[in-house]
Amino acid sequence: MTRRKHLKQSEVRTLPNVFHSKQPGLDKLIRTYFNNNNPFTLELGCGNGEYSNTLAQKHPDRNFLGIDRAGARIWAASKASLNLNLHNTAFVITYVEKLLEIFNQPVVDEIWIPYPNPLPHRRKMKKILTNPAFL
Ligand SMILES: C[S@@+](CC[C@H](N)C(=O)[O-])C[C@H]1O[C@@H](n2cnc3c(N)ncnc32)[C@H](O)[C@@H]1O
Repeated sequence: MTRRKHLKQSEVRTLPNVFHSKQPGLDKLIRTYFNNNNPFTLELGCGNGEYSNTLAQKHPDRNFLGIDRAGARIWAASKASLNLNLHNTAFVITYVEKLLEIFNQPVVDEIWIPYPNPLPHRRKMKKILTNPAFL
């Protein structure tokens, strides 16, 4: 791992709009962060957060929650959101497989999975977020 990536991974958990799956009561923490009853949009595999942050700017009356397993990408998503002064985006570092552990009741109104994998290798098809097993 490069030093830069390592630094991002250390810093990412200190950012105010970033959560991770091991935090107890995560569902409640996220609701408290947004502090409203606006509808939720979930972006699975949000990477650097371009979709969530852009959509959040266009729809200030919705909450956008980006999920990705890669801490360094969530760091970039979080920093972009903070630089844009967005209060309706938050990010969770986790595998999407753990989502049902986070939300113990249905709260999401919309799910986006943009660009899940540009060039899927046959062997990796089962791990792509749009694979029927995930859906
Ligand atoms: C090709 S990138 C797309 C990023 C973003 N959606 C975009 O369009 O710019 C796919 C992303 O999905 C994430 N990802 C893949 N499988 C995942 C899983 N099981 N749980 C969480 N994130 C996953 C990867 O870390 C990566 O950031």
